[in-house]
Amino acid sequence: MSRIAYVNGQYVIQRDANVSIQDRGYQFGDGVYEVCEIFRGALIDEARHLDRLARSLEELRIGAPLGKGALGVVLREIIARNKVANGYVYIQVTRGAAPRDHAFPPSSVRSSLIVTARQIDPEKGEAAARKGISVVTTPDLRWKRVDIKTISLIPNCLARQAAKEGGAQEAWFIDSDGMVVEGAASNAWIIDRSGAIVTRQLDSSVLRGITRTTLIDIIAAQGLTLEERKFSLEEAFSAQEAFITGATTLVTPVVTIDGRKIGDGAPGPLAQRLRSIFHDTAARTF
Ligand code: PDD
Repeated sequence: MSRIAYVNGQYVIQRDANVSIQDRGYQFGDGVYEVCEIFRGALIDEARHLDRLARSLEELRIGAPLGKGALGVVLREIIARNKVANGYVYIQVTRGAAPRDHAFPPSSVRSSLIVTARQIDPEKGEAAARKGISVVTTPDLRWKRVDIKTISLIPNCLARQAAKEGGAQEAWFIDSDGMVVEGAASNAWIIDRSGAIVTRQLDSSVLRGITRTTLIDIIAAQGLTLEERKFSLEEAFSAQEAFITGATTLVTPVVTIDGRKIGDGAPGPLAQRLRSIFHDTAARTF
């Protein structure tokens, strides 16, 4: 089956899809994106993802290519045309195509929108979660506004490649004070010695993960203790459990960091429980 993409107003076969070589996403990384999970045919936390997309666009003063309602229609069309039951939808908006000039193009230049969807075997993620993943650490070399979900992801790509070369599945960024920031494509969490569930507080140094937000709702509903604060790599080494969250990983236990076992080196029971109940709370829209 041919994969179908939405590209600036048209549904096209992916291998025939074209964007301008003058697109500012291509030339400057001048754009933003979202990745939204599709679970049993439903979009997970669609409203939160579209709200974050709107915020990223506003922060960078990129015009919204479509209203939320129309974008929702495109998402559904792409999911249906690609027959995706479980996987992800990818939304990318750039500032549009114009002769190369760092300053913004005239307001007559429309932002570009592409939407694609991808089928994933959910069992792969489940298997990774049963086994637990390994994490390596790397200095955080990113810019100071990573709360904006931009497509400029070179440090994230370098970090993920370092993880891969180190036999790990994710990299955690460490700030200049030795504190854990977040993953290359996920938020970072530990369960500390007192049993509190800890993740870094929200500021411009970290992405406001949608999975993170929904998990915080779950933690409250379960009567568990949450602490939004910085934690050091040293504290992570001695944590009871560690895990990551993201639209592509949900809640996935971390069993080693830089080769050191976390807890007894097996996926933690609380992380596993939070994973198992995640989809009961997350909003599903069809
Ligand atoms: N990444 N932090 C970073 C740097 C991320 O790139 C992501 C998600 C997250 C988790 O956010 P959310 O829970 O909203 O997915 C945190 C997506 C999945 C990606 O780049 O593919």
